[in-house]
Amino acid sequence: MSLEQGQIESDLAKALKAIAATADLDGLKQIKIDYIGDKSPLAKANQALASVDAASRANFGKLIGSARAQVNQEFEKKSAELANVRDSQVLLTERVDVTLPGRRTLKGGLHPLTILTNEISDLFIGLGYKVAEGPELESEWLNFDALNIPADHPARTMQDTFFVQPLEAKLVLRTHTSPVQIRTMLDHKPPLYVICPGKTYRADELDATHTPVFHQVEGLVVDEGITMADLKGTLDYFAKSIFGDEVTTRLRPSFFPFTEPSAEVDIFFNGRWIEWGGCGMVNEKVLIACGVDTKKYTGFAFGMGLERTLMVKHGITDMHDIVEGDVRFTQSFGVGKK
Ligand code: PHE
Repeated sequence: MSLEQGQIESDLAKALKAIAATADLDGLKQIKIDYIGDKSPLAKANQALASVDAASRANFGKLIGSARAQVNQEFEKKSAELANVRDSQVLLTERVDVTLPGRRTLKGGLHPLTILTNEISDLFIGLGYKVAEGPELESEWLNFDALNIPADHPARTMQDTFFVQPLEAKLVLRTHTSPVQIRTMLDHKPPLYVICPGKTYRADELDATHTPVFHQVEGLVVDEGITMADLKGTLDYFAKSIFGDEVTTRLRPSFFPFTEPSAEVDIFFNGRWIEWGGCGMVNEKVLIACGVDTKKYTGFAFGMGLERTLMVKHGITDMHDIVEGDVRFTQSFGVGKK
């Protein structure tokens, strides 16, 4: 390759023009390849110096050297310029507005079941009752036998009750809160006024109206001269407090092994009768088994499902809403609101 001054000058001019015309850092990468890299015209001219005759080598050397230096200098200048532009753009687009309000973390609401439980507890504490508790893993004896539920009662089958292994231990997940009646009578002497809210278990599939884990509230009163009229009055007061003053109750004859007589309690709510729970006078057999003097004392008991109470009270039609724990559901009941 022979060298010509004119060619070198025009290579230099092209390179400078290209650098000047570049508007972004990506474009500069290509410039580096085209005008500075090993295959660029000026680099090739430099390589060709070796084959130029000695007399003109020094002159061409200077010419090429200064041309390459100029290209490098302009390239560096342009790089710095474009890097600056990019940095200020980044500052703009990634700007943080410190005056924006902070993001709030969602606060959960108390679960409506908790709210209802608190409400019922407050209500009965106001009437002089105590809140009693019992274990959810309960002996078969307290859950069934002591409540006068015979060994062949259908509720005791595997289909209804969660038996816990080893079966010889005779433990079940309590199917109702009624064993707390027995625990209370065995541990304390009358007069007794207790309610027991808590979790209960039955071998049901979760669907719109059933859940294998649910809640009940049990009431038990044992005192001198307690009659069915006291039961009716208490249920009436309970129903009005929960559902509103216009609500009335009615008792329908029914059967539970641990109460005699027994009744279903219905409420008249939103223009129709709705079944609410079970109740009755504590069966004398149960009182005797618990060592209560039946010449002196009589008692009543009742038990309601809390999910059912909530569904009726708030018109909830799907049990899934109650068990799924979606904060949008619980929040509609308000945080800690009664
Ligand atoms: N334990 C009964 C049930 O779960 C309800 C009940 C409680 C009935 C107390 C009478 C007295 O169905």
